Amino acid sequence: MPESPWWQSTSIYQVYPRSYADSDGDGIGDLPGIIDRLDYIRDLGVETVWVSPFFASPQLDFGYDVTDYEDVAPEYGTLEDAQRLIDEAHARGLRVMFDLVLNHTSDQHPWFQRSRASRSNPKADWYIWADGRGKHGKRPPNNWKSAMEFTSAWQYSPIRKQWYLCSFLPFQPDLNWRNPAVKAAMFDAVRFWLDKGVDGFRLDIFGTIMKDPALTDNPVRPRMYNGFPRLTERVHTENTPDNVALAKELRAVVDEYPGDRVLLGEVFGPAKVLRSFLGDSDGLHLVFLFDFLTYSYDADWFARTITDFERNFPAPEQPTYVLENHDRSRTIDRVGGDRDKAAVLAVILLTLRGVPTVYMGQEIGMSNTPLRFKDALDPIAASVFRRVPQFVADRLSERLNRDEMRTPMQWDDSANAGFCPEEVQPWLPVNPDHSRVNVAAQSNRPDSMLNLYRRLLALRRESPSLRDGSLALLEALPPGVLGYRRNDLIVLANLSEAPATVRYSGELLVETGQVAVGAGRTTLFPDSAVVLRTVVPRVASA
Ligand code: GLC
Ligand code: MG
Repeated sequence: MPESPWWQSTSIYQVYPRSYADSDGDGIGDLPGIIDRLDYIRDLGVETVWVSPFFASPQLDFGYDVTDYEDVAPEYGTLEDAQRLIDEAHARGLRVMFDLVLNHTSDQHPWFQRSRASRSNPKADWYIWADGRGKHGKRPPNNWKSAMEFTSAWQYSPIRKQWYLCSFLPFQPDLNWRNPAVKAAMFDAVRFWLDKGVDGFRLDIFGTIMKDPALTDNPVRPRMYNGFPRLTERVHTENTPDNVALAKELRAVVDEYPGDRVLLGEVFGPAKVLRSFLGDSDGLHLVFLFDFLTYSYDADWFARTITDFERNFPAPEQPTYVLENHDRSRTIDRVGGDRDKAAVLAVILLTLRGVPTVYMGQEIGMSNTPLRFKDALDPIAASVFRRVPQFVADRLSERLNRDEMRTPMQWDDSANAGFCPEEVQPWLPVNPDHSRVNVAAQSNRPDSMLNLYRRLLALRRESPSLRDGSLALLEALPPGVLGYRRNDLIVLANLSEAPATVRYSGELLVETGQVAVGAGRTTLFPDSAVVLRTVVPRVASA
């Protein structure tokens, strides 16, 4: 098999810098803290580190509200630290991706401050401004909704006496990418980091950057979408053809640089639509496929979803699988606290064809930290969901307070889990389960989640079948069993509540749960999974 470009077979580890490791004892994770843990990340066996935003920011959305794209927020370190992070990662054979927030800035960005000052200043057209509707323009320019869906995307500025667009939250004004000066300034920021050697970027809400310039109303069609209510169809604000065109322009910028610099888009929609962002290998390299964030623990569901992704992202394109991130629930909580089920999901995630992403702490089975709305720092929880009664929120499987997934990384069982000094108060409380769930405790236990991740990631690294091979779902398996062939390897997972025997066997490479591999057959007990090396394909039957 010919060797593919690095990004087609890489594995990505997401570090949320504020919560990873605090090197200077201010209770806030920082870049030197990440550098200190690069050996851990390398030994885990992932190949790429993606670091969530650490740029200058008032931190109202913890870095997803930038005030200077070419500087580091002081609590995270300096530009020298960022350079050192890139260099030290490279010295360990790791790739580095940073997080680009292109859709919007902070409303405290000097660009916006100027833009808001008048309708005629040089930055006046850097954001999306429009007159209101109705008498005296008191109603928003159109029916576009913010990401929160129940509020308008438009905010009124009494200074300019006009409305400005905020697709996400009110303090995150959308840049006007139709203004060539904006595009030039943002592409310069991209080059600034490429010059420092970064290997690529995760692109924050990339699909909403180019909106309809005529500001046409979105069609009203209330329904549930990905577990959340939607009032309108976002045809004029999301995944527009102009967004796809922008993907190609951005690709041309990263292609100015040697060494395959990579673009990974955070985009939302059906696989077929997301595929369009890749263009003809001249758009984004990868797009997140988020369906695994809201899976049902069900073999048929996985088989259907994998089929859909395989159909829409045939080789050399790659599906990008995500089980957890800083915005959505931890896996453990989705499967009712069942660590065996979470282990089965790890086997699936790391053996599929494509690029898997692992969110810091997922590898030790960190759970959501139950927190009260009244203490929320997350701007969505603090402003939008604040009126949801706590007992209702506690019952939802979707977490409405993103703080719960962002509490400090659990390194050991000491008072602050080894995240920051014991006498310091971390920016978010440490999960009380850190006395059991932590890196130190799991490192030496062969059957721990951490060692399962390590074994699977090591196998991915060494195995051309997993890195570059094809994927074929196995047919006619017993109900509740998911199985697929990756060239000479076979992956089997029993997601049902009954033991199941399948007519496959082979050399046992990785297992979780209780399995019995015999001559020509393998029995999988509930919530178990195996990776087998088999040379002779056998006929499957229940
Ligand atoms: C993305 C980020 C999220 C952030 C939002 C606004 O969805 O993942 O954390 O709040 O964009 O930038
Ligand atoms: Mg610190």
